[in-house]
Amino acid sequence: MIQENIDITRRHTFGIATRARAWADYSSVDELRILLQEAHKQQWAYMPIGEGSNLLFVKNYEGLLLHSAIKSLNVTTSLNNEVLVQAGSGWIWDDFVAYCVAQGWYGVENLSYIPGTVGASAVQNVGAYGVEACDVIESVTLLATDTLKECTIKASDCGYGYRTSHFKGDWKGMYIVTAVTFRLSTTPHYTLDYGNLHQWVGDTPSLQGVRNAVIEIRRKKLPEPHELGSAGSFFVNPVISREHYSKLQEKHPDIPCYEIDEQRVKEPAAWLIDRLKWKGKSLGGAMVYPEQPLVIVNTGNAKAGHVVQLAQDIAFSVLMEFGIAITPEVNYIY
Ligand code: EPU
Repeated sequence: MIQENIDITRRHTFGIATRARAWADYSSVDELRILLQEAHKQQWAYMPIGEGSNLLFVKNYEGLLLHSAIKSLNVTTSLNNEVLVQAGSGWIWDDFVAYCVAQGWYGVENLSYIPGTVGASAVQNVGAYGVEACDVIESVTLLATDTLKECTIKASDCGYGYRTSHFKGDWKGMYIVTAVTFRLSTTPHYTLDYGNLHQWVGDTPSLQGVRNAVIEIRRKKLPEPHELGSAGSFFVNPVISREHYSKLQEKHPDIPCYEIDEQRVKEPAAWLIDRLKWKGKSLGGAMVYPEQPLVIVNTGNAKAGHVVQLAQDIAFSVLMEFGIAITPEVNYIY
């Protein structure tokens, strides 16, 4: 199952030339157990990888990359206009969304066309157009990396927040996601209040219509991973105090924000970066995407160092002008 010294340039969406010590695809939990036993025996570092759509390999990876090809699908309950569907971690996320839409199951359509896998969606809590994965995740099934036992954890215990979970924080490295159970609805309901999504969808929405609109918007704004390497949004949108926001309004009266609570607002980092005129600027083979400045793209021959340097320069300029420290959403892998 294990392939050694492998070129992984095309196995992560940034497409930066990278090699890994080893790579293994597994299609069952038992195969994953065997691979983990081997990694422990050889004392290799290891890391789960999906489509590699949120990773920046800063150098060659000196360990074993574990790639799920678990593509099971079980509808566990179908009651009260709800369906509980458990999908294996290896499903391509958008194939899963397309399947749910075709079945007439509501809940994930706003998350259409996000690169990545079902397993990664539960770690990263992917989100778009007013919906986050945690809104529809019921539970996550995992393999504990030390005991090699399987367990299922309810979504409410996974520490979900904006682009975060315990799997990225306190529990990092402790589990590998093997399947995710989603609670979807069979009665029509739509979330269309983000930006101009409603306009794109029109006054008579349909499940497939929402999926089509989201795909159209994403195609317009975001690079196609197979055409131009990137890892989607490079930074998370920062949260600041209302006091800080009011101060910024004095110099930038048109600065937008999203409401969070009485004390805090969230800033669209794209706006801050746009205001500092970063669109289209490049460093080596790394460039700020002209249509969406939150995205850094590989124009063909980017080195990880170009991306890291460009990201640092952007973050520094945002800090200097707005007093806001923006942090990467992308995981740097050393
Ligand atoms: N904006 C500009 N200039 C631009 C683009 C955007 O000023 O060129 C400002 C505008 O004020 C706009 C705001 O930024 O209203 C927000 O832009 P957008 O709707 O494109 O969303 P975003 O906050 O930049 C987030 C997610 C995306 C997700 C979109 C849509 C994060 C880090 N990113 O981007 O997720 O697709 O919302 O929901 O939260 C990803 O995580 O990789 C990703 C692409």
